[in-house]
Amino acid sequence: MRDFLEWQLGLHGKVDEVNQRLMEAVHTDQEDLYRMSLYTIEAGGKRFRPLLTILAYEISCDQPYNKILDLAAGYELIHTASLIHDDIIDNASVRRGRPTVNSVDGLANAIVVGDYLFAKAYELGSRYGTTVSKIMADASSRLAEGQTLEAVNLGNLDLDEKTYLEIISNKTARFFEACAFGATTAAGADEKLSLSLRDFAYNLGMAFQVTDDILDIVGDATKLGKPTFTDLRHNAMTLPVIDTLRKSDENTRNRLKHALLNGGDESVDRELKDLMVQTGAIDYSFSVAKEFSGKAMNSLKNTGKSPDLHLLMELAMIVVERIEELS
Ligand code: IPE
Ligand code: IPE
Ligand code: MG
Ligand code: MG
Repeated sequence: MRDFLEWQLGLHGKVDEVNQRLMEAVHTDQEDLYRMSLYTIEAGGKRFRPLLTILAYEISCDQPYNKILDLAAGYELIHTASLIHDDIIDNASVRRGRPTVNSVDGLANAIVVGDYLFAKAYELGSRYGTTVSKIMADASSRLAEGQTLEAVNLGNLDLDEKTYLEIISNKTARFFEACAFGATTAAGADEKLSLSLRDFAYNLGMAFQVTDDILDIVGDATKLGKPTFTDLRHNAMTLPVIDTLRKSDENTRNRLKHALLNGGDESVDRELKDLMVQTGAIDYSFSVAKEFSGKAMNSLKNTGKSPDLHLLMELAMIVVERIEELS
């Protein structure tokens, strides 16, 4: 199986065009704002969301993909804006291998740059009419709902798996789904195909976020381009934490609670990581991610034979298997 970089390399022409569109979209004569906007865009990123948008469009109609580039770039801008704001919330120092906007240009600038990228994204979305614009705006609202549900549950050691899944559904999977739905709507796809692609994207997003939450614990920060243990330090109740608490006896639960709420140094992080591996919580979380990936692939059965469908199937495997190469 190809790894993510090989997969993305096969699509480098599309990635280059998305990047070009992103740079044009954020252009402003306000030089500082332009520089700060380009900073996170030029740092790279996987470009999952715009590629998903483009592939869903190509599968849905015979039009050239350059017609959907503005929408694809719009989704990437919302994503980038949400990362800039997320790094303020998480007090994160590195993103995409570079110091975060908030750590380089300060909190106020990071807020404004994020707002600017959101605004530019909606302008790009509006080029596709009101229905597509609404899909885009709704995805952004969901993201905020998910982030808030996560925030109110920070440190809530009683958080159950169902609520965790609701958090990641809103903050990540609904956004992936909107990339596909916006594209199929712009393409005028028939309803059955649109539903299959939406279902695929939603489950891909779930698999992706569960994997990201596992990588926060077992990942290699350099390979990831962002720090690990951010969720733990921030007391975000991710699936590995929830499952460890579920599997531990009273003694271990108390140790874990203490470490989570008072931790922060490397030895505590290591102890927590060992516990999550030993209890089987990492394996369990991985099995949940694989289940979503399987559901994603199932959604694409009976949708035809386009080579792009094959690329999406491959992506569903890659998002979970990347744990191997990134840890
Ligand atoms: C990070 O998304 C935020 C999550 C939803 C986990 P990505 O991992 O897609 O970030 P980039 O775009 O590649 O930097
Ligand atoms: C994703 O959550 C954030 C958004 C959907 C905006 P994370 O907090 O897990 O993302 P990373 O790990 O910082 O990239
Ligand atoms: Mg974060
Ligand atoms: Mg994360």
